Order: sequence, then structure tokens, then C-alpha cells
Amino acid sequence: MDRKVTQQVTRATFDEVMVPNYAPSAIIPVRGKGSRVWDKEGKEYVDFAGGIAVTALGHSHPTLVDVMCEQAGQLWHLANVMTNEPALRLAKKLTEKTFADRVFFANSGAEANEAAFKLVRRYAFDHYGPEKHEIISFNKSFHGRTLFTVSVGGQAKYKEGFEPTPGGIKHCDYNDIEQLKTLVSDKTCAIVMEPIQGEGGIIPADLEFAKQVRELCDQYNALLVYDEVQSGVGRTGTLYAYEQLGVTPDVLTTAKALGNGFPVGAMLATEQAAKSLAFGTHGSTYGGNPMACSIAEAVIDIVDTPEVLSGVSMRHDLFVAGLKAINEKYHVFKDIRGMGLLLGAEVIDSLAGKAGEIVKAAAEEGLFVLVAGPNVLRMAPSLIITEQDIADGLARLDKAVATVVANNQAA
Ligand SMILES: Cc1ncc(COP(=O)(O)O)c(C=O)c1O
Repeated sequence: MDRKVTQQVTRATFDEVMVPNYAPSAIIPVRGKGSRVWDKEGKEYVDFAGGIAVTALGHSHPTLVDVMCEQAGQLWHLANVMTNEPALRLAKKLTEKTFADRVFFANSGAEANEAAFKLVRRYAFDHYGPEKHEIISFNKSFHGRTLFTVSVGGQAKYKEGFEPTPGGIKHCDYNDIEQLKTLVSDKTCAIVMEPIQGEGGIIPADLEFAKQVRELCDQYNALLVYDEVQSGVGRTGTLYAYEQLGVTPDVLTTAKALGNGFPVGAMLATEQAAKSLAFGTHGSTYGGNPMACSIAEAVIDIVDTPEVLSGVSMRHDLFVAGLKAINEKYHVFKDIRGMGLLLGAEVIDSLAGKAGEIVKAAAEEGLFVLVAGPNVLRMAPSLIITEQDIADGLARLDKAVATVVANNQAA
């Protein structure tokens, strides 16, 4: 069959044939290498966005391309009526490298979380009965877009119009232990948190808060779930961020960078907790397929090395220094924060709601950056981005900020 592409597609095609739940920019990227991306017109961009904290090893990483092509020539899919070697090897690695004893594979962050939320409910049901079903989560948190994950998530806008949503879920202000103490009870089956809130504005957990959340879970026989979909796989400088908090969860979810862009997610759990997802209680057709798992195995092999992980803090320092230098010139940020290569720069009050303007101006200059809410500029680049790419990207960001400042002065 002739597979030559004959149809011309443009950004306008999106508005004709796609469900309008996204509003993509005018740029249509066609190629990426490392931390550079090129669009249809040949314009080149520096990528500080990383596909929203996904391409931790950059675009077209040669080892990942080789692993993927080799696996593609061997075996794509069998479904979970049979297991496969890449899934078993990846699960062994994840359990060896983390607190977890057991792994469930999914295809996305939301699905990994869905499995986690079902597990904690089922665990409490098995051990304490149906009364113990309440999940406590945090305001501004983000856990995905399925009905259960938007319900556990702490952002009302994602639930609006989709009610009735699942019940038995309470929300607390992040880093507010006193409020948490008023919400937790014998009915609590789990507390769910991101060790650093991503979509909520790049807000790291206070160490003392994290420790006390663990203590409350122990006191009330509740499981502690860490959503590391965004913070995991080396992004904060350790394989998972919990290692830096000195707190060990019972359940952890990971996705995004795990496949460097190939869809894969996983829920990791202790032996004791995992038992409650007994045979027949949960499943997925694609979850744990050999394609995804062979790529994720290679990602973990490459990321979990001193070379990559220690490089994260060096690059963090370069970013922070660059953002501070921009701020000294234009006075646009009231806070620059984050862990490792999950960075946020919050705009000053007079630019409130304008982080998106900087993102647009940056794209004009040839730079991809993200927002985390209306006031925070977010960066989640490749963990192995070169110093040259960082310098070039920051120079482009400098120009973008200058444009936004000038436009807002003129307005
Ligand atoms: C912390 C967190 N959890 C879950 C998700 C959902 O992941 P996915 O979009 O792969 O379903 C995200 C996505 O941004 C996230 O940041």
C-alpha cells in the first residue's frame, strides 16, 4: 500500500476535525533533537517545556530510538492474559530502586492515579469495612482528567458540569497541617499528595508538613499516596522526589517522563497494600505492553545514573541564576522556586494573569515554556539539556519578557 502522505494539513485543520477541548498554538512542530525542535516552516525552538515534564531525555534520544525500533521488530502487544519480559524487567527495576514491592502498569498519569485511588478504597474496605472510604487531597492539586481523578484533584474548574462526581473526597490547603488535622478521621482511607504541586503553581511541600502527613496516616491507618506523575523519574534530582522529603509513601504513581513521550504510567505499592488489588479487581488492555515497558526500562537505566541525577542540580542553578538575572533587569517575578528541573517563576501583582503572555512572546522568540496557573511561568526541560541550550533559551526568554513589559507599559 502506498502510504505517501497526500493530504495537506494545517493548524486550521484542527478547528475543522478535532474536538475543541484544546487550543493549540499556531506552531506545528515536525522534528526534535535533544532540546531543540523545528516546526513546519523550519523555525527552530529551544524546548524548556519538555512536553509538560515528559521528554526528560530530550527528543529522539539515540538509545531510546534504538530500543523502540528493536522492540517494534519483535513484539508490540499481547494484553495481560500473558506477561512479557520488558514489563517484568521494568517492574523489577522499579521495585529495586524504590520503597515499592509491587507494580501495576497503566498508560497515563490519570490511569496510574485511578488505580491508586481504587486500591486505597479497596484496601480500607478489605481491612476496616466500607465506612473507611474518605480520601483527603489538597486544594490546587492535579491528578488527571478522569472523573475520579478530577474529583480527587483540588481544582473546581475541572469538575464543573461533570457532576455528580464520586463522593467521599475532602480537600485541604496544601502545607496546612492544622487544617488537615481537622479533616482526618477514622473514616480516612488515604491522603493523596504531590510532593511538589505542579499544575497548582510549582509549590514544594514543607518538609515538616510532609513528615506530619505521614504521621497522621499512621495514626489513622490511612495509606499515603504520592502522585509523582510530574515530579518523578529524576525531575527533582533524585529518581523520585519522596527520597528528598525523608518520607516514604505506601503508594506512588509515576508516568510522564517514564516513557519520555511513549505513553506509560505505573502505580507502585507496598506488598501489604498491593494485595488488595487481587485478581480481577482492576485491569487495562494496553497497560504493561512490551513496547512501552522496553522504552521505560531504558529511560530508567539512563536517568538513574549519578551522571544524569547530579546534573539536575547543576542545571537548576543555571536556570535560577538566569531567571534572577532577567528579574534584575525587568523586575517581573516575585518568586523563583522549584525543585531540580521543575521550576516556577511567579509574576508580580501588576502582571497577574499574564504568565501566558510571556509563553506566547517566548514562542515568537523561539522558546517553549509553560504556565502553571495564570501567574506562574513553568519550566520542565530535559534533564540533560546542554548548557548552550539553557543559555540560548534564557536569552530568548529575556527578549520575550522585554516585549511583555513594553506591551504592558504601553497598555
Ligand atoms: C501530578 C500529576 N498527576 C497526574 C497527571 C495526569 O497525567 P496524564 O495527563 O498522563 O493523565 C498530571 C498531568 O499533568 C500531573 O501533573
